[in-house]
Amino acid sequence: MSEHKVETHPPSDEFARNAHADHATYEKMYADSIADPDAFWGEHGKRVDWIKPFSKVKNTDFTYGQVDIKWFEDGTLNVASNCIDRHLKDRADQTAIIWVPDEDDGSDQHISYQQLHAHVCNFANVLKKMGVGRGDRVVIYLPMIPQAAYAMLACARIGAIHSVVFAGFSPDALSQRVNGSKAKVVITADGGPRGGKVTDLKGNTDRAMEKVEHDAKVLVVKRVGDGVRNWVEGRDHWLHEMEDGIGDTCEPEEMGAEDPLFILYTSGSTGQPKGVVHTTGGYLVYASMTHQYTFDYHDGDVYWCTADVGWVTGHSYIVYGPLANGATTVMFEGVPTYPDAGRCWKIVEDHKVAQFYTAPTGIRALMGKGNEFVEKHDLSSLKVLGTVGEPINPEAWNWYNRIVGRGKTPIVDTWWQTETGGHMLTPLPGATTTKPGSATKPFFGVKPVVLEPESGEVLEGGDVEGVLAIADSWPGQMRTVYGDHERFMNTYFQQYKGFYFTEDGCTRDADGDYWITGRVDDVINVSGHRMGTAEVESALVAHDAVSEAAVVGVPHEVKGQGIYCYVSLMAGHEPSEELKQELVGWVRNEIGPIAKPDFIQWAPGLPKTRSGKIMRRILRKVAANEHDQLGDTSTLAEPEVVDDLIENRLNK
Ligand code: WTA
Repeated sequence: MSEHKVETHPPSDEFARNAHADHATYEKMYADSIADPDAFWGEHGKRVDWIKPFSKVKNTDFTYGQVDIKWFEDGTLNVASNCIDRHLKDRADQTAIIWVPDEDDGSDQHISYQQLHAHVCNFANVLKKMGVGRGDRVVIYLPMIPQAAYAMLACARIGAIHSVVFAGFSPDALSQRVNGSKAKVVITADGGPRGGKVTDLKGNTDRAMEKVEHDAKVLVVKRVGDGVRNWVEGRDHWLHEMEDGIGDTCEPEEMGAEDPLFILYTSGSTGQPKGVVHTTGGYLVYASMTHQYTFDYHDGDVYWCTADVGWVTGHSYIVYGPLANGATTVMFEGVPTYPDAGRCWKIVEDHKVAQFYTAPTGIRALMGKGNEFVEKHDLSSLKVLGTVGEPINPEAWNWYNRIVGRGKTPIVDTWWQTETGGHMLTPLPGATTTKPGSATKPFFGVKPVVLEPESGEVLEGGDVEGVLAIADSWPGQMRTVYGDHERFMNTYFQQYKGFYFTEDGCTRDADGDYWITGRVDDVINVSGHRMGTAEVESALVAHDAVSEAAVVGVPHEVKGQGIYCYVSLMAGHEPSEELKQELVGWVRNEIGPIAKPDFIQWAPGLPKTRSGKIMRRILRKVAANEHDQLGDTSTLAEPEVVDDLIENRLNK
């Protein structure tokens, strides 16, 4: 643990006075939530509208072999009507979504709750016309356009389960997810503009559909309007044609609290991404409550999360949390550096954004472009700044605080995961003294524990270091891996019995603040995007020339982690610059641009134990240029392999 003095930033009295929770309120609510979860969540469960109120609150079991998680299980509700219909009485004309397109051409759209209602009902009726009903799966592969939110809410309205696939993923990744969920419909667009370039999403979908093994239809949103190259009659349908003459009323389905709301595939230690399943009642309660408290959201605030709806952050904190709270949520199609590095700050100024939520990688990228891009904009509307996705280094935190927040705006460093549905460790801006780099304290109902990694012993008190686990369930927790409950139990509940294991390392300091140190499994975090090294490895070995590959994360100034690949070639193939470029392009194609390798090192052999296990610890050290700290190498089968790797290392 670091010995140097850590800066602390207590909330201002003024902020605390007007906040949903000041320090005392947080302490009281947190203590209540732990002392009596049934009473606490029974009360806060009422923040959403139930068709049939629940009588049971918490029914959860973390015992390995019989893990079962249910919240509010006998209640019924509809998520779309919670996010739209219930607001029509008081805020029909209030803007629900401000959509900001890729080009900075003034064509931003304000979509009111009333309009949102019509769009979502329309969309829902189109899905019904295509044969989608309760429990059916729908894959959404769209750019950041309002139709992405309409599609999600339309599924929720009719009880279909959506699975959003990030538009940066490749046709292969898309087909895997369509097959995995046996989706009836894939929703895509004719193109996805980002940073002035257009991705051919329909083309990608066409290629993905070649590998889809069941009957599925394709619904195409017209975003670009330049025509499409390929059209399969009977399979492909334009949204605008399907919408023609279709009604804009659609009764919401009455869903059980534990009916699945969505599947979201995420990376783990193995090559196959897991379909994380979130259900209806608990998820919505948790997403909306965290959105309100973590960002101290008040009526009338304009809130902006820069994530993509392809990630969980976009689900919980662009769509479901904010809309359940009747907020105005900004949806931005583009990137922070287009047309220049001032784009985010221009949007904040244009729309008087109060809460701004982004990833550390974005902050580091913008920090490198110079302060003038920030300083030329009026950011006085900002009240709270947030970060998510990876540990934030103190330099980036301080820049965010001083330059963007003018030293006046609290920063919430929110730690959570696709699996957790919503924030788990986070400051509340009116309650928590923050420290650059610490996600500080648990949200209501969350019981974090630090475990000794080997023995699993619970480490009590301050100044401890280990792995992070959660001792009891919270309403937003994932319920299962789609179609594979065994895998759910084996991944999260097997290693440390009785706990949900996060697969993150952490420390807890003397004040009880948590500091996340990063993943302890083979997941890396590239620009805030979670990726399994095993996925990159399987992409590499799928190439004819590659016999074996090992992939590790390497520290990267902007991206947090970069991708470092060690590649052994098949007999008959020689290392060359061309082959290197080919492999880079190959991985990009197999997974998507976010998985583009930063380094490919030719490795005549990989360091293995005598039982044949690749020693990744050594590979990480060599990649990080820390080969003088290899640690114990006595179990290596062929120590000379390592000398070769060190000699030819690329990240000097
Ligand atoms: C990492 C994103 C440090 C962590 C919401 C976690 C963080 C993984 C933070 C989940 C943070 C997320 N500080 N690390 N504030 N937030 N992480 O599923 O390693 O895409 O396990 O969910 O991101 O990534 P995921």
